[in-house]
Amino acid sequence: MMLSRVISENVDMATQLAEDLGYVSINRGQLEQVILNLVINAADAMPAGGRLTLKTSNVSVSEPGAARCPDLEPGDYVHLSVSDTGEGMSEHVIARIFEPFFTTKDSNKGTGLGLSICHGIITRSGGTITVKSNPGDGTAFNIFLPRSTPPDIDASASSYCDGTRAMPSGIGTILLAEDEPAVRAVTSRTLRNQGYRVIEACNGREALDAARAMSGQEIDLLVTDVVMPVLGGRELAQEFEVLHPGAKILYVSGYADCGAGLPSDEYSQGQDAAFMRKPFSPVDLARKVSELLTGHRYGVGA
Ligand SMILES: Nc1ncnc2c1ncn2[C@@H]1O[C@H](COP(=O)(O)OP(=O)(O)O)[C@@H](O)[C@H]1O
Ligand SMILES: [Mg+2]
Repeated sequence: MMLSRVISENVDMATQLAEDLGYVSINRGQLEQVILNLVINAADAMPAGGRLTLKTSNVSVSEPGAARCPDLEPGDYVHLSVSDTGEGMSEHVIARIFEPFFTTKDSNKGTGLGLSICHGIITRSGGTITVKSNPGDGTAFNIFLPRSTPPDIDASASSYCDGTRAMPSGIGTILLAEDEPAVRAVTSRTLRNQGYRVIEACNGREALDAARAMSGQEIDLLVTDVVMPVLGGRELAQEFEVLHPGAKILYVSGYADCGAGLPSDEYSQGQDAAFMRKPFSPVDLARKVSELLTGHRYGVGA
């Protein structure tokens, strides 16, 4: 999700994301819609600029009526909050925000449907959405989704499981260059399931075209096969680095000798580039990508 595109430049966006965030059962597209609606509302509330903060954390409620979230049943939750330093709301407005068609905006701007849709999505997923706001003092929307167990993963990867960290997830844009359609499809699906935005290319040339077309936008990682027709992974990477200097690179190859001169230790904590030998399991891939993007290393075979 490119949230930076929907908020204006005078809004400063900060994120505080938990590294070991638990799992939730909710449709990814619907959760994105919720976040997008909340972010747009926050931006609308700060016409003169301000700060928008997105936070995630694990929250456990041990007794009914706990101070932080008095409406929650005891249990384990994933907490997501979207807060702003905008104009805030009166009690009268707060009482009605989740009603369909309730809006305080001009008819060309507001439909009044955003929050009623958010409310529907969150409650249907077993969650709770609450708001804290005061006029002139900003607004915070808080979402609590019940934590669920990790999804089943590839049995061959089970030796790498360590509970909730088995499949790390993340955000960011990944350019994937892979000429073998079946490998490309599996790789792309794994990365999308982890939450990344994936741009697929069938060879190095196509990937380079995409990288050029996106030169004004952020690409966080290039995942490239080493041996491809038209333009190979190394040549692609050289050109790519010039176009997207901050991005990380993950080389993948089934040819043992192609690792020569590339970062070779599969589990080394490479700073900017790493190499993985095919075949790899979805969990290996998810971990390697997460390591490269966050700098946080996952234990192996723990
Ligand atoms: N972050 C916020 N700060 C101030 N007011 C808000 C915020 N989010 C929502 N509101 C209020 O709630 C109303 C309903 O929001 P929503 O359902 O998204 O509809 P819309 O944005 O189309 O008006 C808004 O018109 C606004 O008055
Ligand atoms: Mg809205």
